[in-house]
Amino acid sequence: MLERLGLAALHRIDPERAHGLALKALRMGLGPQDGPVTSPRLATSVAGLSLKNPLGLAAGFDKNATAVGPLSRVGFGFLEVGAATPRPQPGNPKPRMFRLSEDRAVINRFGFNNDGMEAIGTRLAQATRDVPLGLNLGANKDSADRAADFAAVLAHCGPQVDFATINVSSPNTERLRDLQGKEALAALLETVTATRLAQGLDLPLFLKIAPDLTEAELADIVEVVRGTTINGIIATNTTLSREGLRSEHAAEKGGLSGAPVFARSTRVLARLSALTDGTLALIGVGGVSSAEQAYAKILAGASAVQLYTALGYAGMSLVTEITRGLDALLERDGFATVADAVGKGREAWL
Ligand code: FNR
Repeated sequence: MLERLGLAALHRIDPERAHGLALKALRMGLGPQDGPVTSPRLATSVAGLSLKNPLGLAAGFDKNATAVGPLSRVGFGFLEVGAATPRPQPGNPKPRMFRLSEDRAVINRFGFNNDGMEAIGTRLAQATRDVPLGLNLGANKDSADRAADFAAVLAHCGPQVDFATINVSSPNTERLRDLQGKEALAALLETVTATRLAQGLDLPLFLKIAPDLTEAELADIVEVVRGTTINGIIATNTTLSREGLRSEHAAEKGGLSGAPVFARSTRVLARLSALTDGTLALIGVGGVSSAEQAYAKILAGASAVQLYTALGYAGMSLVTEITRGLDALLERDGFATVADAVGKGREAWL
């Protein structure tokens, strides 16, 4: 009840301000604090990370790692914060976040606004947390060498986290997505994995991709990733597509997230699962707002799932609702563990 009243109030103000207030409320201890729902069915592992349940917080919600402790008690099985860039940067001019309520979606063009790796690294070092924590790596807008930026953030913050994500799929930093091309990607992944080795960091590295890639581009990405020590792929980031939207802000520039991205991102996930035949860890993200949708991502090939946009519409109690519901769905269909269900329904999306 309180959560619903809070959400109704937040929805009457500017979305970026509302998000800031939601983070503040979490820091004040106003969110759920019971920790992750778990069971022998929900407990799983992805790329060597042990998770109490497979539902994680997607990057971008806590860009500056200011609410890691409270978020770790909300019920997520794992968290990803950031994106962090080497130097702090302000991001794009406001307004840069738009609520598309009729579509249960958001458009954002933040452009990696963040406090920079020094401040974020200090917060990560001080954070007490109960679940695995990852950092989304970004590059500065004006950087002459973006691969070096990803490597610098990994070198600086890597010791404080359990995994890191190479994010080449944000649509709001010009030409960042070009790093998904075959040659640029191979060079980038070589630089970042070499840094992991040189720094003696023992943590999985994920690559996060866009939902707007063709089948040929996905096949190229899989080929490149297979030639490296990258541990998995996160599919997907926000989309540039505006298909089927009804809301007033549908034409705003930026990345679209939430309900309209669900099918598109799940198709990419299933395609990746088919291309790798289940041999690479996949994390599914995009448009999840129910237990059924989290389950659909797992059946399509995801070992774990993340969400962001639906939290703004349904609140943090959604996390426990989804994990409980997922446990029931796995039981209903006779799966003893999450891992047993991974990829079992992939054909439906191909
Ligand atoms: C994001 N997302 C994102 N992803 C990323 O890799 N680095 C980032 O910094 C951000 N920042 C960000 C800000 C905002 C306001 C939104 C809405 C999203 C993308 C996010 O992690 C996720 O991939 C997509 O939003 C799709 O999932 P949902 O939101 O539909 O569950």
